Amino acid sequence: MQLFPAATGTIALSLLLLLAGVTDAHNITSILAKNPDFSIFNQFLTLTHLAVEINQRETITICTVDNGGMSDLLSKQLSIYTIKNVLSLHVLLDYFGAQKLHQITNGTALTATMFQATGSAPGSSGFVNITDLKGGKVGFGAESNHGNLDATFVKSVEEIPYNISVIQISKIMASAEAEAPTPGPSQLNLTSLMSKQGCKVFADTLVASGAEQTFDDNIVGGLTVFCPTDQAFKDFMPKYKNLTADGKNSLLLYHGIPVYYSMPMLKSNNGVVNTLATDGANNYDFTIQNDGELVTLETKIVTAKITGTLLDKQPVAIYTIDKVLVPKELVKASPTPTPAPAPAPKVAKSSKAPTKHAPPPPQVPESMSPEPMSPDGEPADQTVADDNGGVRFNGARWTVAVLSVLLLTLLI
Ligand SMILES: *[C@@H]1O[C@H](CO)[C@@H](O)[C@H](O)[C@H]1NC(C)=O
Ligand SMILES: *[C@@H]1O[C@H](CO)[C@@H](O)[C@H](O)[C@H]1NC(C)=O
Ligand SMILES: *[C@@H]1O[C@H](CO)[C@@H](O)[C@H](O)[C@H]1NC(C)=O
Ligand SMILES: *[C@@H]1O[C@H](CO)[C@@H](O)[C@H](O)[C@H]1NC(C)=O
Ligand SMILES: *[C@@H]1O[C@H](CO)[C@@H](O)[C@H](O)[C@H]1NC(C)=O
Ligand SMILES: *[C@@H]1O[C@H](CO)[C@@H](O)[C@H](O)[C@H]1NC(C)=O
Repeated sequence: MQLFPAATGTIALSLLLLLAGVTDAHNITSILAKNPDFSIFNQFLTLTHLAVEINQRETITICTVDNGGMSDLLSKQLSIYTIKNVLSLHVLLDYFGAQKLHQITNGTALTATMFQATGSAPGSSGFVNITDLKGGKVGFGAESNHGNLDATFVKSVEEIPYNISVIQISKIMASAEAEAPTPGPSQLNLTSLMSKQGCKVFADTLVASGAEQTFDDNIVGGLTVFCPTDQAFKDFMPKYKNLTADGKNSLLLYHGIPVYYSMPMLKSNNGVVNTLATDGANNYDFTIQNDGELVTLETKIVTAKITGTLLDKQPVAIYTIDKVLVPKELVKASPTPTPAPAPAPKVAKSSKAPTKHAPPPPQVPESMSPEPMSPDGEPADQTVADDNGGVRFNGARWTVAVLSVLLLTLLI
């Protein structure tokens, strides 16, 4: 099953395969594909990722326009992000079949749209006014368009009561708010957005460590960030400071996924996802788990809850979480009583992100012990990568480990 028709790249593809289990009630792409008159509208639902969001909703009405109507919209040379807002205004969050449209109580109704649901619609601009007009006509207009019902109902395209209704209207509803320039994702300042909304400590840490660059590099291709709230990150700060520079970088990158996940996508998917810290054998992955409205992120060490949405706009989503995500890779197991073979030293690289541009190595000075964390917060033994990408050993234990390996080799 293809979840992201427009997604490219192997990372997106492999994540796709990992996130299984979606049961969409309908497929707007295949509904619209039956009529070539709607091919441009259909194409833009896919390009803007609206198709995925539509498929995961129930009780929804799509107001489509023919290719002529879309040409008028496209002639305005709006950015894809603005086009997404305009098309979101044409997705009504209620079920309107042809019959219901002609029998609206009191002859007029305001209905919320997906534009309203994005949170970027000012005032009531995310609502559409539907009014029964003289002669059996039904008028449609953006609520913010001064009572101007500039579009009319043409025909019903497909009705699956009460899951999805697709209707054709005469033209794209004009809305100055939906057509307003939308900042493209490259103009987004992730850290200042987080700082303003309760994740200042995490944002400041991203800036200070240089990890911010890796997040920025992933904006265009799609990015989901889980930012721990200020209290959560403050509580974790002593442990954070105990990490090596490399460990700090990995921990921060562990809070980003190089794929855009809207809230509906998170709520309907369970599975393991790679992160910006994933680097070959160093998995640095975690599990997204949903239970109704609640979405949790489970590492082997902690389970964090998503507590809010700071931004959910293709191709970037930022959510707040109530705990710092700690990857098992940064927490070494407590020493086992039996002498285990020496672990193969893993040489950490300065960049763990699957990006083309490697982020600069972290500039944070090493102020504390380079010991990795252990589950109980005690410094652990074994190996840990230092900030030069080398490997540092605890001398005495290293000797014991080497001797055990030699002994094992002799015994075999
Ligand atoms: C409507 O959606 C529900 C839930 O996905 C599904 O069980 C049901 O079969 C759908 N109804 C129709 C008529 O397709
Ligand atoms: C929806 O239908 C289109 C075209 O028929 C297909 O390419 C796509 O994979 C389908 N999407 C889902 C989620 O099944
Ligand atoms: C219809 O109009 C009546 C009288 O003005 C009002 O009480 C009622 O709430 C309206 N119903 C709806 C659905 O708007
Ligand atoms: C919808 O617009 C019409 C025409 O401007 C207006 O008369 C009506 O009151 C509006 N309906 C609602 C529910 O605001
Ligand atoms: C984001 O804004 C902060 C301060 O507002 C600034 O320090 C930082 O350099 C900006 N980041 C980018 C990528 O522009
Ligand atoms: C940090 O490391 C020091 C020295 O290894 C240790 O004493 C301390 O308990 C550690 N603190 C935390 C919060 O892990």
